Amino acid sequence: MSKVTVVGAGNVGSTVANVLAHKDIVNEVVLLDLKGDMAKGKALDSWQQAPIDYYSTKLTGTASYKDTKGSDIVVITAGIPRRPGMSRDDLIATNAKIVVSVTKSILKYSKNPIIIVVSNPLDVMTHAAFKASGLKSNRVMGMAGILDTARYRAFLASEIKCSPKDISAVLMGGHGDSMVPLTRYTTVAGIPVTELVEANALKAIVERTKKGGGELVKLMGTSAWYAPGAAAAQMVESIIKDDKRIFPCCAYLSGQYGLKNMFLGVPVQLGKNGIEKVIELKLNKRESNMLVKSANHVKDVIKTFTKMKLV
Ligand code: NAI
Ligand code: 2OP
Repeated sequence: MSKVTVVGAGNVGSTVANVLAHKDIVNEVVLLDLKGDMAKGKALDSWQQAPIDYYSTKLTGTASYKDTKGSDIVVITAGIPRRPGMSRDDLIATNAKIVVSVTKSILKYSKNPIIIVVSNPLDVMTHAAFKASGLKSNRVMGMAGILDTARYRAFLASEIKCSPKDISAVLMGGHGDSMVPLTRYTTVAGIPVTELVEANALKAIVERTKKGGGELVKLMGTSAWYAPGAAAAQMVESIIKDDKRIFPCCAYLSGQYGLKNMFLGVPVQLGKNGIEKVIELKLNKRESNMLVKSANHVKDVIKTFTKMKLV
């Protein structure tokens, strides 16, 4: 039996629940939101899709943490999204309180869940959930790298006019404009991307990726949900199936890349124990400098969180 709770039944949370149900890999998905009827309605709608799309995953909606009892994995999407003109960091005052209180409530009913944080500012909200939960660091992680890498891969596929399936890439750092897409580790069906995309075009794609979230906020007035929801569901899948897939995720660092006591996007292996391994790439000087810059930015936001004295 496997049970997944998704907290926050807004755009991202309801997408996570729906994509997860389509994968048909867990017995139960509980969608929890302050707006209990909305959570119930979205869960019921998704459950009514099951006979059409052929899945058995049972979906229910609730506003009560009692219904989350015994969850194996909890995905936290509760919180406000950014609006045009806002940075992800502008959300901290509201979202830190929400993430801390959600995490504490979850832990009352599930003793040792794996937590995947989606709420922004992502790296610091993952740190907040870790501190509030008291869980081991391998059981708390954040979703951002799969999304940012997917944006980069999609832009490259459009440029090359090939299938996004053939593009393999890794990206590191915080979920913000200082993220670090690694062109040296980007291949198209095994071919280095630099052989297929001219340097200026590649540079433009890297820059567009860094601001990929903002591009969507400008278009829609709120942030994205299809790709973010699918990305979080992909993390759940690797954990539930113990696939040990390698993805860029926001993970606790205890000395890797010269960084410690913080969460940051790095390549990891995801299996039944959560983050089973942080993979350390041999970065060159330029890449290391970009990673340090991104880490320093996250550290500044951690200071803001610490000053809030919520944990
Ligand atoms: P949304 O506004 O559509 O949904 C958020 C939901 O959280 C609402 O239904 C609200 O009622 C609920 N909520 C608020 N406080 C709650 C609480 N204490 N307990 C339970 N539910 C609560 O927002 P959306 O678009 O789903 O985004 C959610 C969060 O995810 C935002 O912070 C956004 O910035 C972040 N995000 C992160 C991404 C990433 O890559 N890590 C990508 C996309 C969004
Ligand atoms: C995104 O990148 C806003 O973090 C959210 O779409």
